[in-house]
Amino acid sequence: MPFDPNKPDLKVGVVGSGVMGRGIVQVTAEGGMAVKVFDAREGAAQAAKDFIGQMLSRQAEKGRISAEDAKAATGRIEIVGGYEDLKDCDVVIEAVFEDIKVKQEVFAKLDAICGENTILATNTSSLSVTEISTVCEKKGRIAGLHYFNPVPLMKLVEVIDGIFTEKWVGDALMVLGERQGRVPVRCGDTPGFIVNHCGRGFSESLRIHAEGIAAPEDIDRVMRDVGGFRMGPFQLMDLTGIDINFAAGKAIYDQYFQEPRFRPFVLHKQRFDAGLFGRKTGQGWYRYEEGKPHEPEEAPIPSERPGKVWISPAEPDGHLALTELLKGLGANVDTGPTPPTDALCIVTPYGLDCTTAAVEQGLDPKRTVAVDTCFALDARRTLMTNPLTNPDLLKAARGLLGADGVPVTVIKDSPGFIAQRMIAHIVNIGCDAAQQRVAKPNDIDTAVTLGLNYPYGPLTYGDRVGAERILQILHNMERFYADPRYRPSPWLTRRAKLGVSLLIDD
Ligand SMILES: NC(=O)c1ccc[n+]([C@@H]2O[C@H](COP(=O)([O-])OP(=O)(O)OC[C@H]3O[C@@H](n4cnc5c(N)ncnc54)[C@H](O)[C@@H]3O)[C@@H](O)[C@H]2O)c1
Repeated sequence: MPFDPNKPDLKVGVVGSGVMGRGIVQVTAEGGMAVKVFDAREGAAQAAKDFIGQMLSRQAEKGRISAEDAKAATGRIEIVGGYEDLKDCDVVIEAVFEDIKVKQEVFAKLDAICGENTILATNTSSLSVTEISTVCEKKGRIAGLHYFNPVPLMKLVEVIDGIFTEKWVGDALMVLGERQGRVPVRCGDTPGFIVNHCGRGFSESLRIHAEGIAAPEDIDRVMRDVGGFRMGPFQLMDLTGIDINFAAGKAIYDQYFQEPRFRPFVLHKQRFDAGLFGRKTGQGWYRYEEGKPHEPEEAPIPSERPGKVWISPAEPDGHLALTELLKGLGANVDTGPTPPTDALCIVTPYGLDCTTAAVEQGLDPKRTVAVDTCFALDARRTLMTNPLTNPDLLKAARGLLGADGVPVTVIKDSPGFIAQRMIAHIVNIGCDAAQQRVAKPNDIDTAVTLGLNYPYGPLTYGDRVGAERILQILHNMERFYADPRYRPSPWLTRRAKLGVSLLIDD
């Protein structure tokens, strides 16, 4: 390695002092390193330094850092007037506009001016690091360093090796990331890197809504209460902005040459075209009043109960979980091998819809509903109908399932309910990222938990549900839809067959 990235006098430069640049400057200065800032817009770098000074003073007022440390950190920030001033830096981080031409101009200048051992890193979120580097002579010193907004709060940084990047460059950036108080993870120069690639899993929510299975607020409720996510997919789209996430989703779909797992949906584009971007425009999937989303109330639990219930034994785990629950709720559960003619029939399929499960098991569809037993049943329960389900029986089924006050979400026929298909899609995409060597399995999970705030990384989530179960859900969905979107990743298939953790590397 041409220089020691741990040296106390490491010099860092930042080009572009907008939303991201100022955050990068702040964490660098807080990490004890000298940092030079250049922005092409008159006064922008000074405004960024003033902003950082205020942020650090506030931290000091709250007692999170000492007043001396805040002052010292601000003192390490130097505003410079041009690229020439960055030539003695060990690392220069670029955070200018997301435009390949603008970035390539910046890199060509830096490459010509900076010392030959200076690392040049880009904070691009969606462009190819390798493509940016093609305008440079010394391509081996160029890498990606992808931070998340707001930088001081988001601990993750993705360290991206382009095709030309020399190994020592990524190694040094891993050290820099740690010195900035981040959690660095290493990944390849693939579309969306780790986080924006794995985040595509949430797009399954759009298909669920597009098929009329459930409303956005119902999907969000299930994903929060059953899936354990802090935010549902529609809430999240509204927060990040539909202008941003529609464009990002479409870009990744195209960059992966129309990979069906990432297929965008017409409903998403309609919101985008309408300018209904979410919170910032007052309407997206939700309508906002004084910044608060208007969320329709849930229908009350009916007082009706079924006279008799028969639970299909076709899926032994689901049968067991539901029998225990419904007996506890006071149901008259018939345990015969076939349903009595007057009983409500409940199926507990994995990856199949209610219609297919009822027909394949020879049940009367009018008397059949499905319950998702793949996840804990204590926070919310999902009840699925088929087109012929008798409305009175549905009311009774809902009354029974919600008899202890736990909310019940009623959905239309859907292979994999809501949570099963959402989680299976997330796990499958994470597995395929591992298979394509985007990053090491543990790093995929770290990146997704820190970058997306998911309760578990995709591989750990798959382990919790069980790789075989995820595979079963995907196989059934693939069979139902005849859509390669749900084809299981080889990574998942092999580990399920071997009965080992999805985190096992090879
Ligand atoms: N905003 C986010 O949430 C986010 C998250 C991760 C990565 N990124 C990426 O970070 C980069 C910067 O995004 P941002 O949101 O901070 O943008 P921004 O518009 O807030 O800031 C960009 C800054 O770069 C300056 N600039 C533009 N051209 C320049 C040049 N040739 N030389 C010097 N300065 C120049 C501008 O004056 C501006 O201050 C983009 O590549 C973006 O994709 C953004």
